[in-house]
Amino acid sequence: MTSPNVFGPSTVKSSPLADWTTLRVGGPAERMVFPESADEVRDTLADAARDGLPWRVLGRGSNLLVSDAGVPGVVLHTRALRGFDDLGPLDPTAAPGSADAAVRVRAGAGLPTSVLLSETRRRGLGGLEALVGYPATVGGAARMNAGGRWGETGARVVSVDVVLPDGGLETWDAARCRFAYRSSALDGVVVVAVEFALPSVDRSEYGRRIEEIHAEKSRAQPLDQSSAGCIFKNPAPGVSAGQLVDQCGLLGARRGGAMVSTKHGNFVVNAGNATCRDVLGLIEDVREEVARRKGVRLEIEVEIWGPGHVPALV
Ligand code: FAD
Ligand code: EPU
Repeated sequence: MTSPNVFGPSTVKSSPLADWTTLRVGGPAERMVFPESADEVRDTLADAARDGLPWRVLGRGSNLLVSDAGVPGVVLHTRALRGFDDLGPLDPTAAPGSADAAVRVRAGAGLPTSVLLSETRRRGLGGLEALVGYPATVGGAARMNAGGRWGETGARVVSVDVVLPDGGLETWDAARCRFAYRSSALDGVVVVAVEFALPSVDRSEYGRRIEEIHAEKSRAQPLDQSSAGCIFKNPAPGVSAGQLVDQCGLLGARRGGAMVSTKHGNFVVNAGNATCRDVLGLIEDVREEVARRKGVRLEIEVEIWGPGHVPALV
């Protein structure tokens, strides 16, 4: 299936995205590309423009709901953009323990966040509690400003290298990324690498904290089932969409193979052969019931990919 020199970077013509997403739902991509460098990302976008095709970026696929019909155009998968470099102290003259004594690390966009966590832990660097307990890539976590109760990704970001739709390569500082609750300005560009500044920590104390967060998440969330994490954004700080769903008696509600988790009301799990249609139907059932009983219209957090949802048209 691979034909490396036909479209430039390593390319697969058609692949069910169910195999590339954690919810395990979705049809094929028209073209799937695995660029290995910023230059190959540029080539990919140029090829897409030449062929009049839309493009999208895929990391671990843990915040996506993909149409059963699949998606038109190019899916640029970041798995081959996975370097990791220790760049040393932010300010070598800074007093130990001060904010400037933080150490800079640079990670490729496709590096799994679990690898970023283990590489930094090994070096006695901390500050990445926000990334514990879910499958993601560095680029996807930056784009979504992923996190929760234990912090957000953007808080540790110094800068992000991006390829723009016209092929320009830029480095954006954290302010330009406009990190906010589950959002950033990194929508519509391709993140190729992220630089973080991380504090030195006591390894065993940090290790214990990571284990505690993991245990707490496993207790509260269905981490052992196929899902795309939380389906809805929380409607306000401190108001859990999952709790509202639970209070409406919807835990365990089903549509075909899609089911509201019995552990957490904001997770829809693939209970076996779920289709995108099942998941969308269940999302609408839940939204309607929560609106009717609680007066709250929940906003969707997961990104929906399909013929009618094209985030980046070249
Ligand atoms: P994908 O799902 O592949 O993509 C998500 C979005 O980012 C898409 O718009 C995609 O185009 C874009 N994107 C991906 N890579 C790039 C790139 N290199 N450049 C530009 N855009 C890019 N999220 C939380 O915030 N907190 C949680 O606690 C949490 N818990 C979860 C638990 C489980 C069990 C699961 C399955 C998911 C959970 N999530 C959570 C959701 C998800 O893991 C995060 O949103 C994660 O950051 C998505 O990363 P990804 O690499 O999988 O991105
Ligand atoms: N709760 C219930 N029933 C439920 C779900 C939750 O009663 O079905 C209660 C919990 O018992 C707790 C409160 O609601 O008292 C808050 O629950 P939780 O700690 O799980 O937090 P959340 O607000 O529901 C948010 C994020 C999660 C993140 C957790 C922990 C959103 C939409 N969700 O959930 O992020 O993991 O905090 O930090 O912001 C995601 O975005 O995909 C995601 C999983």
